[in-house]
Amino acid sequence: TRHLLGIKNITAQDIELILETAKSFKEVINRPIKKVPSLRDITIANLFFENSTRTRLSFELAEKRLSADTINFTSSGSSVKKGETLLDTVNNILAMKVDMVVMRHSSPGAPHFLSDKIKANIVNAGDGTHEHPTQALLDSFSMQERLGDLAGKRIAIIGDITHSRVALSNIFCLQKLGAEVAVCGPTTLIPKYLHTLGVKRFDTVGEALRWCDVANVLRIQLERQQLKFFPSLREYSLYYGITKKMLDELDKEIIVMHPGPINRGVELSSDAADSGHSIILDQVENGVAVRMAVMYLLAQKN
Ligand code: CP
Repeated sequence: TRHLLGIKNITAQDIELILETAKSFKEVINRPIKKVPSLRDITIANLFFENSTRTRLSFELAEKRLSADTINFTSSGSSVKKGETLLDTVNNILAMKVDMVVMRHSSPGAPHFLSDKIKANIVNAGDGTHEHPTQALLDSFSMQERLGDLAGKRIAIIGDITHSRVALSNIFCLQKLGAEVAVCGPTTLIPKYLHTLGVKRFDTVGEALRWCDVANVLRIQLERQQLKFFPSLREYSLYYGITKKMLDELDKEIIVMHPGPINRGVELSSDAADSGHSIILDQVENGVAVRMAVMYLLAQKN
């Protein structure tokens, strides 16, 4: 495929190739000279129609490490505010001879919509509540660094599953790598289609934490809530919030992950987020190498 639109439609072999390639790039970017000339002749546009800190900066840094030329677009301050359509916006940017597009958009399927209309490679950097493939890849990479082969390992995804593209991409990615996946959260934040995905479900955080090797904790996405929020943040933290004490009292090693941004004191207490159980900043570090691998491999298909 010329694009990375999601994890659902790629194979376990594709995932393994990306993760192996990312391992080599992680070595490269830890050397004194961090750059390689691999994408010297490639121009990449980062199109962010929705807010981002980690993903946007991580893609930009990955592109610089690969020696690509880059341009950055954010919809705020652009002619999208004057009513220009997505396709017109992208076609105008591509007229400047761009080879690859990294795109974040609040509408599920926006990168898929573009994929048969433009010539450039597309990397989905998060499309609404649908998929966030590079997040799932960097999450699996970070888990493999700690646990080795993920086959048979138990991963609990805890939090707002309904509004999370990270949850869906993680479920597809982890299952393709042979891991067992469970979700945990309030019924109001578990999607109705969950039973079709072959994942376990825990109603209490205690059960989920006792079961899993890794707890991937997600943020409550208030900005995507259509109706009055239930549970409230206070109720959520009371019933589903994870503290360092809860982690310390488990009679085993447990790894805690979070894609960010964290709502400190809601889904994770500060002492849990900053504890020795947490690999949250490793995830951010690994994002650069994983995104280098994705863009490097896609560029070979031009
Ligand atoms: N994990 C993640 O996608 O973070 P940003 O929204 O800051 O990019």
